[in-house]
Amino acid sequence: MENNKRPESMERISTEALAKSFIDEQIAAVKKQVGDKKVLLALSGGVDSSVVAALLIKAIGKNLVCVHVNHGLLRKGEPEQVVEVFRNQMDANLVYVDAVDRFLDKLKGVAEPEMKRKIIGAEFIRVFEEEARKLDGIEFLAQGTIYPDILESGPVKAHHNVGGLPEDLKFELVEPLKFLFKDEVRVVGKTLGLPDGMVYRQPFPGPGLGVRCLGAITRDRLECVRESDAILREEFMKNGLEGKVWQYFTVVPDFKSVGVKAGKRSFEYPVILRAVNTVDAMTATVEDIPFPLLEHITDRITKEVKGVNRVLYDLTPKPCGTIEWE
Ligand code: XMP
Repeated sequence: MENNKRPESMERISTEALAKSFIDEQIAAVKKQVGDKKVLLALSGGVDSSVVAALLIKAIGKNLVCVHVNHGLLRKGEPEQVVEVFRNQMDANLVYVDAVDRFLDKLKGVAEPEMKRKIIGAEFIRVFEEEARKLDGIEFLAQGTIYPDILESGPVKAHHNVGGLPEDLKFELVEPLKFLFKDEVRVVGKTLGLPDGMVYRQPFPGPGLGVRCLGAITRDRLECVRESDAILREEFMKNGLEGKVWQYFTVVPDFKSVGVKAGKRSFEYPVILRAVNTVDAMTATVEDIPFPLLEHITDRITKEVKGVNRVLYDLTPKPCGTIEWE
């Protein structure tokens, strides 16, 4: 029976010194567990999988095989950042899989939110499984499971990233962060030298921008979501709101409205701004974005994002609105 209870004697990792000794302990533990065998990791670029990757690169170097699946639903610049940080800077053994067309083809015409989620999840497992089968002799699977995943999953074993792999792919799990809370994971990540943009990033749903491009996903609207989200994030960073607001993003619905652009009638999509604060995501309040900043963001989005002629600000707390729109 696997031990899934955080040891009572374990000190809260709040400083670099504590993180350093945690990292040393985990490096020794991982080396002992896997020896000179190879370990596979699905590296999304999110906080948890990135910290696991950085830790295991220190422990076993090229024997860690990171697989980054670009499903086309990531934020602007994210796949590039994964390649830059892990392949170029940390010299990781990184397999980059461009699965954009594959995911978007599967999602074509699917409007029902839960069906979209199911397709994205199932396709992710299929792509990852195919990559795993190409790599011979891998016995270990690293996962970015953290303590809240274990607490929330009760007696069922936590599968943070790639639960659902077929039975014949029997991997032994390597879960070095499984007793850490999120704030501790961030201290460890910072100590391992990961960039702030990776360590302190806001929560991002597994299905990514797929649930923010409402209804049946189309490539043009998906680009509207990605580009408007990038502008919102840039403006939040410039105005000191990054790190202060819990989650902020844009949503693009699947209808158009009439506007005027350069003296001509336009018929284009609206972009909805969402910015919320919460402790546990069960309830949330709306961030009071200063009006001049809202005006500036609106101006930039309507000028810079192709196919958009209107910007709306969602003032709904949770309840009764959820944080995401789908
Ligand atoms: P809601 O919309 O339910 O969101 O108020 C609460 C938090 O959960 C995130 N979220 C998801 N995360 N897969 C995820 O990994 C999902 O399908 C999903 N749906 C919502 C959401 O971004 C928010 O932080």
